[in-house]
Amino acid sequence: MQNRENGGLAYDSTGEGRAVLLLHAFPLSRTMWDPQVEALAATHRALRFDAAGFGDSPPRDGPLTVDRIADDAVRLLDHLGIETTVVCGLSMGGYAALAFARRHPRRLEGLVLADTRAVPDTEEERRRRYALIEQVRERGPSAVLIAMMSKMVGTTTHRERAPLVARIRERILAASPEAIERALQGLAERPDAVPELAEIRVPTRVFCGTEDGITPMSEAEALVRAIPDARLIPIPRAGHLANLENPDRFNAELLRFLRELDASGPAGT
Ligand code: MLT
Repeated sequence: MQNRENGGLAYDSTGEGRAVLLLHAFPLSRTMWDPQVEALAATHRALRFDAAGFGDSPPRDGPLTVDRIADDAVRLLDHLGIETTVVCGLSMGGYAALAFARRHPRRLEGLVLADTRAVPDTEEERRRRYALIEQVRERGPSAVLIAMMSKMVGTTTHRERAPLVARIRERILAASPEAIERALQGLAERPDAVPELAEIRVPTRVFCGTEDGITPMSEAEALVRAIPDARLIPIPRAGHLANLENPDRFNAELLRFLRELDASGPAGT
């Protein structure tokens, strides 16, 4: 579905109940949340959209910053007449979820930060991102596969789940080089979110694949220490894409969190 109020970004909304907005990782699209949308649909309203340039969304000028993703999320909520939501973001989606918490705290009911971190890129990481932009210009999205695929999923997935690895590779190769470039710029320049973690006032769960080699458990633990009402949820037998690598556990923990939120009051309170 295209949402013109949202700059034409593609989105879908599935089910009824408390809204749960799902923000996708780099360089994937909203389809990465298929297993979660299926699990949520009976009890919740799952919302997801493709960040500009990814999936079915048209590109936009300038870097795809995490602030822009957060503001696009709020435009989608406005378009749908939704006042408040739980936000669940994985990796780049988690950076955007933190930007959402900082820029739109009154729209937030609960937060799930999955396989992500609050610290900005180091100089070295920033240099690597700009080098990757050059490689993507020369070779296309396969440069991202070479740079990231070994760490994109955990060792268990590499060993035991060849079809899932193949699907993720296909999705990375299908990403637009222009979108990849704009997102890499946005990722390289994302702000330090650490100083605002103490200001997060909503219940928060920090999910992390125990085999995550991109945003490892130490980053998740740092988030839990800094956010006042946060709990760590390790996802076993999963790496960086924990929602795809161990969807049963991820979904069970997500639904448990949502039930806890329901027990503490209806949506919008
Ligand atoms: C992601 O999965 O969104 C990326 O790994 C984020 C990053 O490279 O920092």
